This record gives sequence, C-alpha cells and structure tokens, in this order.
Amino acid sequence: MAPLSTTDLPAIPAAQGNTPASQAAAAAEAAAPAAPPSTPPANDAARARLERLMARGAAFLGSRVAIMGGAMSWISERNLVAALSNAGAFGVIACGAMEPPRLAEEIAATQALTDKPFGVNLITMHPRLDALVQVCLDAKVGHIVFAGGIPPTPAIRKAKEGGAKVVCFAPALALAKKLVRSGADALVIEGSEAGGHIGPVSLNVLAQEILPAMAAEVPVFVAGGIGRGEALLSYLEMGAAGAQIGTRFVCATESIAHPKFKQAFIRGAARDALPTVQLDERFPVIPVRALQNEGTKRFLEHQAGVIRRHQSGELDKVAAQLDIEHYWAGALRRAVIDGDVENGSLMAGQSVGMVTKEAPAAEILAELMDQAAAALAARA
Ligand SMILES: Cc1cc2nc3c(=O)[nH]c(=O)nc-3n(C[C@H](O)[C@H](O)[C@H](O)COP(=O)(O)O)c2cc1C
Repeated sequence: MAPLSTTDLPAIPAAQGNTPASQAAAAAEAAAPAAPPSTPPANDAARARLERLMARGAAFLGSRVAIMGGAMSWISERNLVAALSNAGAFGVIACGAMEPPRLAEEIAATQALTDKPFGVNLITMHPRLDALVQVCLDAKVGHIVFAGGIPPTPAIRKAKEGGAKVVCFAPALALAKKLVRSGADALVIEGSEAGGHIGPVSLNVLAQEILPAMAAEVPVFVAGGIGRGEALLSYLEMGAAGAQIGTRFVCATESIAHPKFKQAFIRGAARDALPTVQLDERFPVIPVRALQNEGTKRFLEHQAGVIRRHQSGELDKVAAQLDIEHYWAGALRRAVIDGDVENGSLMAGQSVGMVTKEAPAAEILAELMDQAAAALAARA
C-alpha cells in the first residue's frame, strides 16, 4: 500500500463535532482545570508494582531497572554505557569490529566511569570471537550478549565457565529453545521495528510467540520500537523480564554521536526509518532499518548498476554480491562519528519519532519509568 499523506485522510463531518453531547463535553472541558501533563504523576503503589514486574530482570542484570541499553556500534562506548549503568539501567558496550586489545581498553575505560554492572555485546561472526570472550572474562564482565547470529556452543560454554552470564538473541521460538538448551541464561527478542540489522518479524508477534513459551524458563528481554513506558509495561505484563532499548538513547547527552546524527534523530519520524530495499532476489541484501537519506537512495542505483554489470558479463555473481555488500562498509561510522548524515548510515528504529530532544540518559530512563508507573496508577 502506498504511504498515506494527511490529504489522504477522510475529513471529519462538521456535524460530528456539533452534537449536544459534544457541546456538553466541550463545556465541561472549558470548565475543567488545565490539561494534565503528558505523564501524570504515578503513585508509590504503582512504582512498587512496576519494580515487582521488573524484579526478575533487574536481579539477572544486577541493575536497579530491567532496561538494557541496546548495544549500538560506535555509540555504545564508555560514555553512554557508564551513563546508563550509573542511572540504574544496564549499559552494554558494542564491540562491533573491535580487536581484542581495543575491547579491553574500552572495558577498562568504562569500569573507570562506573562501578555498576554493564555488559559487552559481541558479534558472533567476528573472526576473533574466542579471544573477545576471553577479554570479557579477564576483565570480569558479568554479562556477554552474543548478537548477529547463533553463537557457537563452545563460545557460550567458555563464557559460562569463565563466570559470565550469557544473553542471546532469539529470532524465533524454535531457536529460543535451542539457545536455552545450549546454555543461554537469558534471551533478547528483537522485533523488526528496531534500528540496525533486523529480522522479518515484529516484536508484537515475537512476544506472543516466545514469551508464553519461554518466560518461565529464562528472563526474556524485548527489543524493537519501544519508545514509551506504556509499551514497556505492556510487555512486562505479558511476561517479559525487561526491555532492550537503543534508538531512544542515541540522543542522550552522554552519547558521543555527532550533533548532526542526533539532529537527524530529533527530526526523524517513524515512517522515515525504513528497512533497506533489495532490488534482485539473486543478490540478497541484509535488511537494516535506517533513516532515509542520499545514501539509501544511491544504494538502489548502486544495486541496479551492479546487476547490469553482472548481466552484461562484466561481473560474476560472487563479485557482484561483494560489490553490493561493500556499499555500506564504514557507513555507520561516517554518520555517527564524522557527521556525514547524507551519505552515511543513519540506523534508527521506528521509535525515532519519540526522540524529541537531547537529554541526559538518566532523564530519558526516568521518563520511561514514569510513563510506565503512571499507566499502572491510572488503572487504580
Ligand atoms: C545506530 C544503531 C546501531 C546498532 N548497532 C548494533 C550492534 O552493533 N549490535 C547489536 O547487536 N545491535 C545493534 N543495534 C540494535 C540495538 O542493540 C537494539 O537491539 C535496538 O536498537 C532495539 O530497538 P530500538 O532501536 O527500537 O530501541 C543497533 C541499533 C542502532 C539504532
């Protein structure tokens, strides 16, 4: 379906706002005190109930609040990670393509900024995965998050035997069960609403498929599209132990993302954060959700050009696939660090529309918790 614009929406008939009932409602509204703030205050009972809903996840993480900062390459480094952990959440370093000595340095620098627990996210296809696990163990990192594919069982075993808790991404129920059998201590289920590399299924559906089956066995953290506390609350009530949130923390004051990258988030709307388009099924493209820019437009032209060169015999299939894959090499760094928001990759989740300003991590976290507690209080 083509995207709707406001001009596509049906007009409301004038009479609809002019009935006796609506006039009475308008009069009542005029007489009522000023509109409440967007997040009404929550009472102590609601906060206590929210804490109970998060107790298992918080105990697993060793944090006050069961919210993991989603590891974001180039962004989730010492400053944001420490800020989240100091604020009561659970920061996670994104190792990305770092080599072991560089990861060791980043962990030590984070430990210098916080005495609270934090985790490290390792990409399973990293050629030095084993050495990276060892770096985490040597530094006494309590939680290792394996991302970007199903982790090899020896890596899980090594992490656990070294004393770390293991968190794995489960993209489907069958894999969730397999990962727990392989030793995963907790799971993240990440829906396609998320920023960065995504699977095909929304969190809405993953939560319904996986939480009833797995939540009793291990803590399950939900990720993707969580921008407000009310959504967080609803997943906790479905059995989630907590959430992993990325997009909402990009514009934390402590985040080192370039001001232009943050500005793109503050301006961005949910409908601007789209998955990469694949032109030809012979040349698969890993879907990445990102804000659209010149780079995403040119990627389509790039694919078309490569496919033409393949069809004319200039490029064989492997070379053509590599050419397409290389297009985005280094693109996230260009946007996050250099501020090239036109050509770099603006990985962002659909909750980007709920990022409206730069604010300290503690404030963003408090806002999410206030919204969740206020939603609970409103029911009472
Ligand atoms: C800019 C950006 C970079 C990301 N990089 C990584 C990464 O390096 N490793 C990873 O496992 N997930 C990565 N993610 C996903 C986050 O860890 C997290 O799961 C996701 O942001 C949650 O969805 P949300 O963005 O809707 O909150 C990234 C997300 C964003 C927005």
